[in-house]
Amino acid sequence: MFDAKELYAKLSRADAGFYTLDTCHTIAAKLDRIAELKQRRNAVILAHNYQRPEIFEIADYIGDSLGLSLQAAEVKTAEAIVFCGVHFMAETAKVVNPGRKVIHPNRQAGCSLADMADEVDLAVRIKDLRRQFDDLGIVCYVNTTAAVKALSDACCTSANAIEVIAAMPNRNILFLPDCNLGRYAAQRLPEKNVILWDGFCAVHQEIEPASVEAIRAAYPGLKVLAHPECRDDVVRLADAALSTAGMVKYAQNSPAQMFLAVTECGLSDLLAIQVPNKQFFRACKICRFMKMITLDDVISSLENLQPEIVLDEGVRKGAERSIRRMFELTVKEKIPPTLLNEID
Ligand code: 13P
Ligand code: SF4
Repeated sequence: MFDAKELYAKLSRADAGFYTLDTCHTIAAKLDRIAELKQRRNAVILAHNYQRPEIFEIADYIGDSLGLSLQAAEVKTAEAIVFCGVHFMAETAKVVNPGRKVIHPNRQAGCSLADMADEVDLAVRIKDLRRQFDDLGIVCYVNTTAAVKALSDACCTSANAIEVIAAMPNRNILFLPDCNLGRYAAQRLPEKNVILWDGFCAVHQEIEPASVEAIRAAYPGLKVLAHPECRDDVVRLADAALSTAGMVKYAQNSPAQMFLAVTECGLSDLLAIQVPNKQFFRACKICRFMKMITLDDVISSLENLQPEIVLDEGVRKGAERSIRRMFELTVKEKIPPTLLNEID
């Protein structure tokens, strides 16, 4: 049973003013209902670090794209995975674990960045670039559709983009769709010719260097952590450019007491909840897609086991190959066993 007072004490750290004791009574009742349905449906709930704070309360695992795909692949006994994140993340869970029902509680929760590349445009671009570069390799960010992943040689996440591109045998690499992450990796890999796609995340693109500079100037000793989806002039101001899970780990382990997480606002909420002894400032923007999933959506998705992610098997296999390649190129010992049997 969830206790409204305990919830209030915790959630009000995330966004003071939004959560009241009254709303926490309603939230606690919904969380109890989800816990009961989750057991009845033999389901696990995976949640991305940008989700609403009340969603964290019923998640079995909270993480970044890399961690979530590893977790999804390792779900063995549960019958369903309820994925609280954006569509490409739920789709990735289905790609790596086709034997489970993957439920995405709100169909509208897409991703502006993933929408910037489709498989038709990619096929044309590959054909064109192969005329110039016969060793061309294609690396796609995980923020892409399964169809785009299926046309790529390897997938990567914000946590391992540099590692994946560095390990590709090709010198010429088409990286898509995020030009900011691609540029960030390319700057650190002068031996590679990284050709950038013209895409970006509309949320991170809006964060201006001035807002980071103002907070940094006011709080000496503050550590600035930026997501590599931010613009180059913002990433340059950071003490570290990290994936969302990397930022949580950094804040937990650093001796510093004050941090500025330059990314989507959900991460600042998560840090305030998970690292209560430190101080977090905000230079963030809200991703409306990440906030679309509500507790009511989760209840309804568990009641109906809908909306379900369904993939064409050819596309799924192609996407699985590019995700498997990501693990082969980086941490072979971490390859989820469900993907292992197809490696040799
Ligand atoms: P992470 O993999 O770092 O969590 O990033 C996912 C994302 O969509 C960032 O906008
Ligand atoms: Fe997509 Fe940007 Fe939202 Fe991340 S923050 S899910 S990249 S729109």
